[in-house]
Amino acid sequence: VSQGLFITGAGTEVGKTLIACALAHHLRRAERPVKVLKPIISGFDPDLAEESDTGLLLRAAGVKVTKAAIAEASPWRYADAISPNMAAARTGTSIDMDAVLEQCRAALSDDHFTLIEGVGGVMAPVTDEITVLDWMAALGLPAVLVGGSYLGAISHTLTAAAVLIERAVPIRAVVVSESLDPPVPLAQTATTIAGFLPHLPVIAVPRIAPIDRPWEAIDGLGELLEG
Ligand SMILES: Nc1ncnc2c1ncn2[C@@H]1O[C@H](COP(=O)(O)OP(=O)(O)OP(=O)(O)O)[C@@H](O)[C@H]1O
Ligand SMILES: [Mg+2]
Repeated sequence: VSQGLFITGAGTEVGKTLIACALAHHLRRAERPVKVLKPIISGFDPDLAEESDTGLLLRAAGVKVTKAAIAEASPWRYADAISPNMAAARTGTSIDMDAVLEQCRAALSDDHFTLIEGVGGVMAPVTDEITVLDWMAALGLPAVLVGGSYLGAISHTLTAAAVLIERAVPIRAVVVSESLDPPVPLAQTATTIAGFLPHLPVIAVPRIAPIDRPWEAIDGLGELLEG
């Protein structure tokens, strides 16, 4: 079977890219080949490609951030930082989910580990009819659900986990990536989430210093890459 993970989130800006980069970095350190994809990206500015999600993912995977590499990892790129269905509509197009699935499947292989970052939260609309959840259910890859530790994050994360479970998307782990100014210590948020999801690994990732390659500072995600 192909090895891969789909990195999804309880919402936008929770740490999906950071965690996906940390996983890519971990694979490289273990000398395991890795391929990264962020098929759909909104809010993309070609002049800031290095700092885009796609650019960060490529750098973490050890790939030079060229136009060709960006186009291959992220075929669906939109300038406006809004949901993909609306971002595509503003360009007079819509996203062909079959083509997205085809790109994902083509990237899966026994020869490397494939990391796919979704877009926005679990039910961000890709088209007017299809959400990221439908995408994940069709693909069938195990998901890593990333959430934050801001006030309200517990409900967002449990809600996201509930719909994944309902749609039979396997959850490899829940990652709680510490938010800025969390209302309680990170461990308390993670423990509370774990209490409601007794059969799932819940991994707390503390706030790390915003250095150039912050993902290199994240340890303890290796278990997500086994199984
Ligand atoms: N544990 C953490 N420590 C430090 N910074 C973090 C942590 N988690 C997230 N961040 C920072 O928060 C911001 C948002 O994280 P990230 O870009 O990974 O979120 P995302 O879920 O991928 O967002 P999007 O929906 O835009 O793809 C980034 O600047 C990231 O570096
Ligand atoms: Mg991201």
